[in-house]
Amino acid sequence: MGVCRICDGNLESFLDFGRMPIANGFLSAEQFDHEYFFSLSVGFCCTCCMVQLVETVEPQLLFHDQYPFFSSTSTRMKEHFHRFAVDVQRNVLQDSDPFVVELGSNDGILLRNFAERNIRHLGIEPSNNVADVARSSGVNTLSRFFNPAVADEVVQEYGQADAVLAANVVCHIPDLRELVEAIATLLKPRGLFIFEDPYLGNILAKTAYDQIYDEHVYYFSLAAISNLLEAHRLEVVDVIPQAVHGGSMRYVVGHQGQHKVAESVGKLRAMEVADGFTQAETFHRFRRAVEQSRNELLAVLSDLKKQGKRVVGYAATSKSTTVTNYCGITSELVEFISDTTPDKQGKYSPGTHIPVRPYSAFTENYPDVALLFAWNHLHEIMEKEANYHKANGKWLVFVPKVQLFDANDPAIHRPNA
Ligand code: TMP
Ligand code: ZN
Repeated sequence: MGVCRICDGNLESFLDFGRMPIANGFLSAEQFDHEYFFSLSVGFCCTCCMVQLVETVEPQLLFHDQYPFFSSTSTRMKEHFHRFAVDVQRNVLQDSDPFVVELGSNDGILLRNFAERNIRHLGIEPSNNVADVARSSGVNTLSRFFNPAVADEVVQEYGQADAVLAANVVCHIPDLRELVEAIATLLKPRGLFIFEDPYLGNILAKTAYDQIYDEHVYYFSLAAISNLLEAHRLEVVDVIPQAVHGGSMRYVVGHQGQHKVAESVGKLRAMEVADGFTQAETFHRFRRAVEQSRNELLAVLSDLKKQGKRVVGYAATSKSTTVTNYCGITSELVEFISDTTPDKQGKYSPGTHIPVRPYSAFTENYPDVALLFAWNHLHEIMEKEANYHKANGKWLVFVPKVQLFDANDPAIHRPNA
């Protein structure tokens, strides 16, 4: 039993993955002896309903100058952020000289759209290497962790914000009480805080346990978010489901009473109660589904090995670290993982030490089966891999269920988002 970071209530652990390395901690062979491990388990707060990690890793160990994750590696994500920016500009930025802030602005994938239109903007991004990429493309970026003191400084220098945006960032921030305080300071009276993160409903429905790793401290539901915002008199005024990251939710938040609350909010709230997101038993059921998923994936991989098939991992995602470590998948079962990010190539996967090779290692010698770690990019990848399909290449996925399929299989055309 732990303590809830939001309300100090009892945190009931429902899924314990045991010892885990840093999800994005791709490493060289010389670093094996000094690899950092922590205990990964996830709990449910019976008081405020927030699902969260029981133990967290110091943010400085996760987001630093060698942070290997660049948002702009996916074209679908670029398109997604372009649409997000257009939406915000049309519907939120009504003032004559608006100011947009983004938290965790990474390489500028979203803010670039505002910079190009000469809209006043500021990215706040603690990882300097990705922030440098943003700066070089004209995105004004501050390399800091966002907190109430930084919010004060930003207000001093630029004034309050019309819109504060965050994509796949809020769920990474351990101290959300502080974050909400800082947001309340930074937002204009009629400003909007718009953020999106993987949605608990999708994680549960798809048994997407690989969303659970060090960087994701929280797994949000509307119920828990609403409780969190209450303390600083903020409220959710709209919720908009997103297909990205395997199913996310965009929450639109304003100061209480400043905006009309959309019908979608009441509907989602009722659905969450009906689906048991406010009850501990739901999460025990999830654990049983996760255990079964692991057993099925291992059974398929062992079977492929017995048949002498070559299996290669496709995309060294952070999510893959949970899967390989929890299931005990090493290079015995998966020869290597191919990945398009140069910073990861030539290194090894955290904990399980599977070699990470460039994408060309995949295309130059197709395996029999590709274990698709980037299942959330299924469509983009299927379109890209026509040659692999011509070579009779098969795919193994584990979300929403363990499945081995090829290009002729209807599964390949089925939306997996
Ligand atoms: P994520 O967005 O699910 O975390 O995945 C990011 C990683 O996946 C990143 O290292 C790039 C890699 N990747 C590929 O290697 N090939 C692909 O086609 C895609 C979409 C991602
Ligand atoms: Zn709580």
